[in-house]
Amino acid sequence: MIKAENITLSYNKNENILSNINLHIKEGDLVFITGMSGSGKSTLLKSFYGAILPKDGVLKVNNHEIQRRAGSSTINSLRRGIGIVFQDYKLIREWTIEKNIALPMIIAGFSKDAIQKQVNKLLTHVKLTHRKDRFPEELSGGEQQRAGVARALAHNPNIILADEPTGNLDDYSTGLVMELFLKVNALGKTVIIVTHRMPTDINVKFRHFHLEGGNINEYL
Ligand SMILES: Nc1ncnc2c1ncn2[C@@H]1O[C@H](COP(=O)(O)OP(=O)(O)OP(=O)(O)O)[C@@H](O)[C@H]1O
Ligand SMILES: [Mg+2]
Repeated sequence: MIKAENITLSYNKNENILSNINLHIKEGDLVFITGMSGSGKSTLLKSFYGAILPKDGVLKVNNHEIQRRAGSSTINSLRRGIGIVFQDYKLIREWTIEKNIALPMIIAGFSKDAIQKQVNKLLTHVKLTHRKDRFPEELSGGEQQRAGVARALAHNPNIILADEPTGNLDDYSTGLVMELFLKVNALGKTVIIVTHRMPTDINVKFRHFHLEGGNINEYL
């Protein structure tokens, strides 16, 4: 599913953010990644969707091998299997919630009918049907993030990556969004969540990795 073999991630020649990392995340895993600010959590997540390429080592995500010289066709194909949720939602403000959720399917070229059907299903799933014609700024933060989760699921990816998805939310909305991730994971999808604060009420099996000093360790 995701296998890192001695990967090193850096933004410039002089400084490595993560060095010689090894990691094996299996299909259906629920994973939390913690670490201090600046420890490389976002950087690691970016490597999983090809936004930063390993300087050294090999990274395998789904059936793709991401190397230093990976081309745009590899990256595009890789991203078709991945859904991403951001701390600041990154919804398009000129688009309705419905259209925002449809975005990955529009990019992938699905038919209008297929898009409508899937978006309706997702709106129900995240309990936003009554908000579908609104624009992002007309929604609360929690509602916007539920739309963000729905969008991440639209093209039916098997890996969901979330970078501090509840960082801007209160406890109530955090609970709702976490619940959505758990449901998605229960359907067999791999869910990887970067967080400052480990949730204390997870009743299913999960894995916890911690980044520190350029290394990664798993709490077992
Ligand atoms: N685009 C970039 N160019 C150069 N350096 C970067 C870039 N993005 C991040 N860095 C550096 O890489 C290091 C790790 O950053 P990263 O964003 O991965 O940390 P993080 O663990 O996600 O932190 P936070 O909890 O604050 O989000 C930091 O020192 C940061 O300054
Ligand atoms: Mg970060």
